[in-house]
Amino acid sequence: MLNGTAAEAWNEIWSTEEGREGWLAPEPEVTDLATRLFEGGAYRQALDMGCGVGRHALELARIGYRTTATDLASAGLEHLGRAAEVAGLQIATREAASTELPFDDASFDYVVAYNVIHHGDEDAVQRSLAEVQRVLRIGGVFQATLLSRRSTAPSSGVEVSPNTYIWEDGEGDHRHPHYFCDGRTLNAFLRDYDWLYLEDRPVDDLPEYRHWHFAAERRQ
Ligand SMILES: C[S@@+](CC[C@H](N)C(=O)[O-])C[C@H]1O[C@@H](n2cnc3c(N)ncnc32)[C@H](O)[C@@H]1O
Repeated sequence: MLNGTAAEAWNEIWSTEEGREGWLAPEPEVTDLATRLFEGGAYRQALDMGCGVGRHALELARIGYRTTATDLASAGLEHLGRAAEVAGLQIATREAASTELPFDDASFDYVVAYNVIHHGDEDAVQRSLAEVQRVLRIGGVFQATLLSRRSTAPSSGVEVSPNTYIWEDGEGDHRHPHYFCDGRTLNAFLRDYDWLYLEDRPVDDLPEYRHWHFAAERRQ
């Protein structure tokens, strides 16, 4: 299994103000869905998995969720801890791999994993998804992104495992494996869920990358 090593690169990125700069504003799609679910009354326990510096964890706590945030990069968790204190928000932080979550089954109503799960090979992705399913209650909602196989980035990388690439350009976390998922495989991975939405979108300012954006409700 090729997994978790990207967190080393992210730990360096989260250690500088410049590195954190583009990762502080929550994505509108997370704010919108989180707000709608909360207002419905049945969603209260949220997990931001691979939280980085915690832009979504902070947003979930602001909305009113009892919020937990995990990551393998301690610098991100430390920054989130300070930001939560300044904002007067309660957020439980845990250093944990997405493939081994330190929580009981069905602990959460809502799991967010934004730009996280593709940091590994297919085996690692499947293990992370199995962990999300385990800690999410039936009827709970999973909102995430994954790199799309329609991206052109793989053509400039080295395939280290099926559909899993690294790049030797020295940029960010590029030397760590990234998994690119096609639609058929994503449907198979999420076969125990009902889609709330699923879309393959280009990434702003990075024309060689596309992401799947989705939310799905756990059916079984
Ligand atoms: C692109 S950043 C996204 C951060 C955050 N989700 C956001 O949207 O702002 C990816 C994050 O995933 C974390 N990460 C990568 N692989 C991981 C793993 N196997 N387990 C836990 N965290 C992981 C990295 O440390 C990093 O903080």
